[in-house]
Amino acid sequence: MLNFKMTPKKAYIHTFGCQMNMHDSEKMAGILLNEGYTLTDAPQDADIIVFNTCSIRQKAEQKFRSELGRTKSLKKEKPFLRIAVAGCIAQQQGRGIIKNNPQVDYVFGPQNLQRLGDMIRAGGPGVLTGDIPVGDSTLREISDSDLPVLRKDAIRAWVSIMYGCNNFCSYCVVPYTRGREKSRPAGSIYEEIRKLASAGFKEVTLLGQNVNSYKSEIGFGGLLRQIDAIEGIERIRFVTSHPRDFSEDLIECIKELPKVCEHIHLPLQSGSSRILKGMNRGYTYEDYMRKADKLIKKIPGIAITTDIITGFPSETVDDHASTMMALRAVEFDGIFAFKFSSRPGTKAAVMDEKVPDSVKSQRLAEILELQDEITLKKNKALEGTMQEVLIEGASKTDKGKITGRTRTNKIVNFSGNKVSPGQIADVSIVKAMRHSLVGIDSQREEELMFKDKDFR
Ligand code: SAH
Ligand code: SF4
Ligand code: F3S
Repeated sequence: MLNFKMTPKKAYIHTFGCQMNMHDSEKMAGILLNEGYTLTDAPQDADIIVFNTCSIRQKAEQKFRSELGRTKSLKKEKPFLRIAVAGCIAQQQGRGIIKNNPQVDYVFGPQNLQRLGDMIRAGGPGVLTGDIPVGDSTLREISDSDLPVLRKDAIRAWVSIMYGCNNFCSYCVVPYTRGREKSRPAGSIYEEIRKLASAGFKEVTLLGQNVNSYKSEIGFGGLLRQIDAIEGIERIRFVTSHPRDFSEDLIECIKELPKVCEHIHLPLQSGSSRILKGMNRGYTYEDYMRKADKLIKKIPGIAITTDIITGFPSETVDDHASTMMALRAVEFDGIFAFKFSSRPGTKAAVMDEKVPDSVKSQRLAEILELQDEITLKKNKALEGTMQEVLIEGASKTDKGKITGRTRTNKIVNFSGNKVSPGQIADVSIVKAMRHSLVGIDSQREEELMFKDKDFR
């Protein structure tokens, strides 16, 4: 008698890009699990490889291209291997990807990821079934709470609250890859988070390209108030806030709602109002500063982080100096800084007066150097303070220590008795570094002091 041993098929997912893409990968992992796959970290063992791509900067696209190139030989060795290209590049380039890379079987954009299961079922091994219309967002009518999600973390969860973007910042591809802004109904978001709380999750991060323009009968403030009342959830974060749409009500929410964390990611992009205009950001440097000032005054200790682009077309030495000045004026807790990357199809791609790459690099280096000083200074100010830390687990970098984050999203490695992920500890900060803080659990500190007294 023949005895067939069924081994589950394996899926390898390679994610590029932002938190939204990472969360989309969790949704695709959930779909693949439903289809009988298990996840693997080794592409050579996989029966299906999914690339969840990002096209925000040229570098991200190049990385994907070289990874995709490697799958040619894999496919030759294993003709039944299926290769899927998802995400923002898939949305932009559609069928062209299959034309230039015949090893690819499926292509689908972020608005079509629910179809992954149907595609796999419809297409036999090796059959080219990439003819899925990209850009068709009708399926977004299905609420996210109906999608299976395989989350990477058991304590902290991403939750989509809106899709797409209407802002058309002149440098940015997102409105072209993720389509027009669409808010998810508040009820569906609430249900998902309620389920997360019952499953033991402690922190949620609400995701959207511009959460301040979340639209529903209750608005973004109303949504935060509802989530704040969910038992079991300890912390609420959200990204990204747009400085133009950032409201008084949101400041009130951060101030009043106990679970909403005192951290805001508020991308400035440039300290020059002329450049901000060219970027179509919809605010001036002064507008930004007024809002940042309000935040700092009303919520003492709030952490503000930002994004900066260097070398946007026509950026002068003076514009760059204005950005440096802005960094000094706000004293951000951390920044992400990027060299301007010309993206096909965007307005900035056809702007004159491109800044040479060497100048962009020089300016980027100056920005990063200045910010390093500021970040260290901000962290040093926390030495001697007590911080509430949500434990994530054992520290990877500091053996024997526990790691977690403050409400302001700073990493703390500390010694203490509480070790379970999801527990909250009051940690006194003894040393600050640029990328993390070192601390000691206050209970442990008391114990040690007590022992010390006994000894004497
Ligand atoms: N929706 C968010 C940002 C999404 S993209 C917002 O508006 O703030 C994340 C960051 O990538 C942006 O804030 C910007 O700083 C950077 N970015 C986007 N397009 C870029 C480009 N063409 N070149 C360089 N950086 C870019
Ligand atoms: Fe891109 Fe601007 Fe939309 Fe952010 S707000 S995703 S930078 S277009
Ligand atoms: Fe995110 Fe990159 Fe798309 S940053 S929205 S995955 S282009």
